[in-house]
Amino acid sequence: MTTTQYSDVSEIDLNDISLWTTDPHPALHYLREHDPVHWYEADPANPFANHSFWMLTRHSDIVHVSRHPELFSSAQGISEATLDMPTGEFDTFAMLAADDPYHGWMRKLVSAAFTAKLIRDSEPYIRESTIAVLDEVAGRRDTFNFVHEVSAKVPIRVIGDILGVPRSDQHLLTEWTDAVSDLDDLTIDFERGTAHSAKAKAAVADMFAYLERMQQLRADSPTEDLVSKLMGAEIEGERLSWQQQRESFFILATAGNETTRNTTTAGVRALAEHPDQRRELIEDPRLIKDAVEEMLRWGTVVSHFRRTATQDTVVGGKRIAKGDWVVMYYSAANRDPSVFPDPDRFDIHRKPTEHLAFGGGGPHFCLGAPLARLQLRVMFEELLKRFPDYRLDGEAVFNQSNFFHGIKYLPVRLHPE
Ligand code: HEM
Repeated sequence: MTTTQYSDVSEIDLNDISLWTTDPHPALHYLREHDPVHWYEADPANPFANHSFWMLTRHSDIVHVSRHPELFSSAQGISEATLDMPTGEFDTFAMLAADDPYHGWMRKLVSAAFTAKLIRDSEPYIRESTIAVLDEVAGRRDTFNFVHEVSAKVPIRVIGDILGVPRSDQHLLTEWTDAVSDLDDLTIDFERGTAHSAKAKAAVADMFAYLERMQQLRADSPTEDLVSKLMGAEIEGERLSWQQQRESFFILATAGNETTRNTTTAGVRALAEHPDQRRELIEDPRLIKDAVEEMLRWGTVVSHFRRTATQDTVVGGKRIAKGDWVVMYYSAANRDPSVFPDPDRFDIHRKPTEHLAFGGGGPHFCLGAPLARLQLRVMFEELLKRFPDYRLDGEAVFNQSNFFHGIKYLPVRLHPE
């Protein structure tokens, strides 16, 4: 674990996007070792730091916060940054940013699309979609961006079908969620203390205009998809508001898409860099299931979520006051050496059952985890069968985001020279 470039925790700013476009782990390790429950002082001129908060980097503290929703609320926001976006779009991820009873109602409603049986039954369809995507690139002899051509395509098809977005329009979902997860046109207004991405703002507006058209089409003739279900759903006799439906659509489009894609890409990169482990998976594909868990841990693509303390309490020996923001860095928890020995080492034999890539447990634990695991297993089974000798042909480029810690560009060649 390298932490040598730091000599004091005050040198570390986890809000700084540039930290996440390289390797954030030296900073995360340093914080965990020197001040695992660290008070980050606000800088009013910096829109990514205009509120003070606690930075949590230890596995046990993050599990504690996640599993005590009565002490740590989600309803007052789940992100630590402030973006100048249309009100509510970014810090109100529907059920993610809600407490019970509303959270429980919304979760029950959306869970109908994710029952264990439905997920199990979807394996042939996911395999068929994966093979179709791999077929499209099979003949390529050049170097291409694996993220756009492969990783992004299966998750968007699966979530697009669940939502009811026709296949011919599903590329739009990719464009909109890309714009939100890679803020490469971000402009920061230090006088007003705001940050603005014109591209992301336009994408969100387009996404909701599209949803409105889907709803108009379904108003008279409902279909079986999730958009129809959201329109017809009632909570205590009341229909969901337009805003609640938009938030549910937005969270599913992004949560089910960017995350699975980024984990696929992280896994493809890790296996290219660890050819001996790749060889083992090719020789015994039954190992892929556990290897996927290591990819989830090692890649940790959702870097953090926030909670707000509902009363005075204590975390890791520090006194937390009612109203304080508490940010859980899953990326740090998943490299905590007290849980994962030699944590920076990628090891498909690790069986990291306690990783927090899907959250620290508790009521918000990722609803799509079984679906994501299935997609990832099928992807690596098919990829390694078809292209066992793929290799990287250049450096990975990370998203401009301190939230979706993902790769947007991974140059790959599928066939040996
Ligand atoms: C590798 C893929 C994925 C990762 C790493 C991931 C990660 C996460 C994380 C960290 C949370 C928050 C947990 C918490 O606050 O305790 C979450 C929540 C959620 N995820 Fe995922 N996710 C993935 C795939 C998916 C998929 C495929 C879907 C759906 C299609 C999905 C839907 C959701 C939903 C709806 C929530 C909110 C649950 C709630 O608030 O009750 N996720 N996910």
